[in-house]
Amino acid sequence: MHKTKVISLFSGCGGADLGLLGGFKYISNHYKKLPYEIIHASDINDKAIKTYQSNFEHLAEVIDIKDLSFKDVNADLVIGGFPCQPFSTVNPTKQPHKKESQLFWEMARIIDEVKPKAFIAENVKGFYRLKKGYYFNLACEEFKSLGYTIYHSLLNSSDFGVPQKRERIFIVGIRNDIKKTFTFPNITHGDTLGLKKKVPIKKIVKSLWPDDPKYFFSKKAVEGVKRAKPNMKRALAQDLEGQCLTITSHLAKVSLNSRDPVLLVDAEKELYRRFSTKEAAGIQSFPESFKFAGSDGDAYRQIGNAIPPVLMWHIASSLSEVFEDKKEDCKEHEVFSLNNVYIS
Ligand SMILES: C[S@@+](CC[C@H](N)C(=O)[O-])C[C@H]1O[C@@H](n2cnc3c(N)ncnc32)[C@H](O)[C@@H]1O
Repeated sequence: MHKTKVISLFSGCGGADLGLLGGFKYISNHYKKLPYEIIHASDINDKAIKTYQSNFEHLAEVIDIKDLSFKDVNADLVIGGFPCQPFSTVNPTKQPHKKESQLFWEMARIIDEVKPKAFIAENVKGFYRLKKGYYFNLACEEFKSLGYTIYHSLLNSSDFGVPQKRERIFIVGIRNDIKKTFTFPNITHGDTLGLKKKVPIKKIVKSLWPDDPKYFFSKKAVEGVKRAKPNMKRALAQDLEGQCLTITSHLAKVSLNSRDPVLLVDAEKELYRRFSTKEAAGIQSFPESFKFAGSDGDAYRQIGNAIPPVLMWHIASSLSEVFEDKKEDCKEHEVFSLNNVYIS
């Protein structure tokens, strides 16, 4: 089987890469292997790369993207979820002019250098919405100027069998000379007839009571929330029958003053707890066999930063058709649907 050669940027612990490669089990579904081969994976964070190395056979490097060069490298696909903190809607101190937010340009530089047949870029909803889409449009214009036709879609993980309402913007570029169109995957889960029922948190969190008391918030933290002004942000207790709010990268925190999802174990006794790293990973659709390196804090960060493998699997599966050799008539770009937005 011919495999599409992939360069993975900002690889983190490998959530996106696992989805792209497939061949894993999540809840009771098997996500079959997809025809991709990762020829480069890297991240600046050594702990994330340690996790990556313990879950994949291929190599991954600790390196700053600014030091990467792919001048003589052939690859068909470049993927990357460039760092999102400056655009995050849950981050009250948005500073999109911070240097970190410029890493998008590094990804564009590498795409220009490699000229892959396609690329997948991912970011938070805030990147799409901030300043009426100014940054998002800037990114799309840059990609178009490099010779790509751009497709984008704001996808919600819960529509694809992940028990989490995580919304992320995906930008897929297809090199203009490839003459193929891309269609985002159709949603698989929802209330509409013919779709599977959305997956509830209880598929992952089997009991409100934790395995370890360290996951409880302290009395002081709970009292702090009770004293907080009504307009203050506070943690939100999740219903195990529903889908979880976004799993963020800072669930290790000791405060309840944020919009992060938590669990209310006993309302009368005011017992709240955070998700364990195992539960957070499960809600992000990592298979149980995926191991995280470093401290709990490192693991929460890697998990919260990740693209849910199951969501990425669906996108990568749709994209694999673009790399198929079979000759097909070049259709006019006519793709417009609820879940699929095409930018001409
Ligand atoms: C949104 S996360 C990507 C997560 C990954 N796609 C996944 O699915 O697991 C962004 C990553 O960019 C990395 N990063 C930040 N600055 C970087 C830089 N200058 N060079 C390389 N990686 C960087 C972070 O360490 C983080 O792991």
